Amino acid sequence: MTLDRDAIADRLAAAGYIADRDLATALWLMEMLGRPLLLEGEAGVGKTEVAKALARVHEAELIRLQCYEGLDQNAALYEWNYQRQLLAIKAREGTGENADDIEEHIFSEKYLLERPLLAAIRRPTPPVLLIDEVDRADEEFEAFLLELLSDFQVSIPELGTVKATAVPRVVLTSNGTRELSDALRRRCLYTYVDFPDEAREARIILARIPRIDTALAAQIARMVAAIRREDLAKAPGVAETLDWAAALLALGARELAPDLVDETLGVLLKYEEDVRRVRGATAAAYVDDLVAAGT
Ligand SMILES: Nc1ncnc2c1ncn2[C@@H]1O[C@H](COP(=O)(O)OP(=O)(O)O)[C@@H](O)[C@H]1O
Ligand SMILES: [Mg+2]
Repeated sequence: MTLDRDAIADRLAAAGYIADRDLATALWLMEMLGRPLLLEGEAGVGKTEVAKALARVHEAELIRLQCYEGLDQNAALYEWNYQRQLLAIKAREGTGENADDIEEHIFSEKYLLERPLLAAIRRPTPPVLLIDEVDRADEEFEAFLLELLSDFQVSIPELGTVKATAVPRVVLTSNGTRELSDALRRRCLYTYVDFPDEAREARIILARIPRIDTALAAQIARMVAAIRREDLAKAPGVAETLDWAAALLALGARELAPDLVDETLGVLLKYEEDVRRVRGATAAAYVDDLVAAGT
């Protein structure tokens, strides 16, 4: 299925993801060129969700590899089920079966534990492979990834070489806590995912929380945009915006008011200094602006 850029954005929206033009273009190029896509940006801007939405659009399976410090090839690719292997050996003890046969048996498919990367290259229909927060893994793992992403094949000493029959769509995300290698960047298409602008954030709220009033969604988006311009320890991500919108809806709010904002700021801001900065006069002034602008 080859879609043009606008069609991709429309399909994503139908799948609950509101993309801007840069991202829609990147996803389109990813289809055209069959290359992995690296998404970089702050926490909570919607990077992980891109892969989930892409899987929904293509009705493909989503396979996720969550990266972390110390992640190694075994945990990412495959492991042997030692316990089962031991049981199998025990069961054969005293049967006179020769050691080579036993070894061949216990290093077969039956005892293989497929981990995300092997799963992704062995699926008959191409899945979406999400390699999430790749900046958390170490450089050695990154080098291994690069190799895998170059030819989509791995060799398992006991079983031989496995090559992807269908190349998966690959999305990598990074929160930028560590510089990724140039080699990995070169292998991928790249998009920086920024906080959405006000209009897009309002659309995101409506897409995710359909029961909310359009006017309230617009107010929330405008308020969040204003709050993000403050000098904060941690600017709220889209996740926090959505939590806030859900909280306001649960409280039966029809529009923002200074007290209401003050009381619910802890849903949006997660540092005491940030709450202190916005609560009170600042929040009230923003609400005044909303009223003056008629949003
Ligand atoms: N453009 C968007 N359209 C719809 N939902 C979004 C969008 N961006 C973010 N979200 C929602 O915001 C939350 C945080 O997004 P997530 O992908 O987890 O962020 P990240 O991976 O960048 O930290 C999720 O609940 C996601 O569904
Ligand atoms: Mg994420």
